Amino acid sequence: MSLEAIQYDNGKLKILDQLLLPAKTEYIDIENVEDGWKAINTMQVRGAPAIALVGSLSLAVELLRGSFTDKTVLRQEIKNKLNYLITSRPTAVNLKNAASELIALANRLEADAKADVDKMKSKFVFAIEEMLIKDIADNMAIGDVGAKTICKKDAGEGLVSILTHCNTGSLATAGYGTALGVIRALKATNMLDHVYCTETRPYNQGARLTAYELVFEKIPATLICDSAVAALMKTKKVTAVIVGADRVTANGDTANKIGTYQIAVVAKEHGIPFYVAAPFTTIDMSLPSGNSIVIEDRPAKEMTDVAGTRIAAPGISCWNPAFDVTPANLITGIFTEKGCFKPAELKEVVPKLQSES
Ligand code: MRU
Repeated sequence: MSLEAIQYDNGKLKILDQLLLPAKTEYIDIENVEDGWKAINTMQVRGAPAIALVGSLSLAVELLRGSFTDKTVLRQEIKNKLNYLITSRPTAVNLKNAASELIALANRLEADAKADVDKMKSKFVFAIEEMLIKDIADNMAIGDVGAKTICKKDAGEGLVSILTHCNTGSLATAGYGTALGVIRALKATNMLDHVYCTETRPYNQGARLTAYELVFEKIPATLICDSAVAALMKTKKVTAVIVGADRVTANGDTANKIGTYQIAVVAKEHGIPFYVAAPFTTIDMSLPSGNSIVIEDRPAKEMTDVAGTRIAAPGISCWNPAFDVTPANLITGIFTEKGCFKPAELKEVVPKLQSES
C-alpha cells in the first residue's frame, strides 16, 4: 500500500484531506473547478506538484460532466477556468505552468480541423490525465539523479544523513516525491543512514506529513524543531540538506516553504551542501530572479492557534509568509528529472532541454 494524496479514476477525483492528517485519513470528492480551487486555497491539498495536478484534474472532471456543442465555447471555458484556478495560491508556479500549456493545447485543438468538439474534449482531458503519470516518472528520475549525485560527491566512504524541510513526498505530488523521492532512492540503494525532518511551523508539514510518510515507509528518521537546525548541524552528522521548491527562477533563486532560506544560510556556515529537488514544471524562466516572486501571506490564525486553541498572546500582530526565497549562491545544485544543475547553468540548459522534450 502507498500513500496517495490524489485518487483519480475514470473522471472521478478524490483527494486526501491533509488538514486532518495524521489523526484522520479521509478522502473528499472534487467534482468541479470550484471544489478544486477551495481544496487548494484551504490547503486540504498542498505541495506545488499536487496543487497543479488537483487544479488541472478538477477541470477535467468538470469538463467530463458537461456537454459542449461548440469548440470555441469549450476553448473559452477552459481558458476562463484555468485563469480562475491559478488565483488559488500565488507562489508555486506549477499550476500556472500547467495552465499555460493546457491553454496552448486548447488553442491547437480548436484549430485542428480533424478534431470535432467531442474529440477536442477527450484529447484535452487525456492530456491532463497523462500529467499524473509523468509526475511520478519525473519524481523517480529526480530521486535517481539526487541519490547518485550525493553518493558520488558528498557521501565519502559512509552512509548519508539528510536534513529536509516541509513535505515533498507522496502527499505533495502524484507519488514518490521530490526531495523525499531522493531520500527514498537513497534508502533503496542502502545508502541512507538517517533523515532529520523539521516541524515546519506554522502548518507543521514536517511534523504532521513528512514524519507520517517517514514512519509509514519505515525510514529511520528524527523530527526536530525548526529552531534546532544549527544545533543539529554542529552536533550530528548531516551529509546534505535536500528541500523541494515552489518556484525556481532563471538565475536559480528558489522559493520554498518559509524557513528554507535560514536552513541554507546555516548549511553554508557548516560547509554542508544544500540541494533543491524539483521537476522542470517548477522552473519559471520568465522571472529573472527571486525578487519578483509573489510570496503568499497566510492568515494569522494559522500561526496563533494550534488545533483550534489560541497559543499566542491576545492582541499581538502577526506576519505569516508561507514561503521565502533562497538565493542561488546558497544552492549547491538543483536535482531535476533531466540531471543535476548548478543554479548558474539553468539559463543555458533549461530552454535547450525544454525544446528537446
Ligand atoms: O504551503 P505548502 O505546503 O504547499 O508548501 C509546500 C512546499 O513548500 C514544498 O516544499 C514544495 O511545494 C515542494 S513539494 C514537492
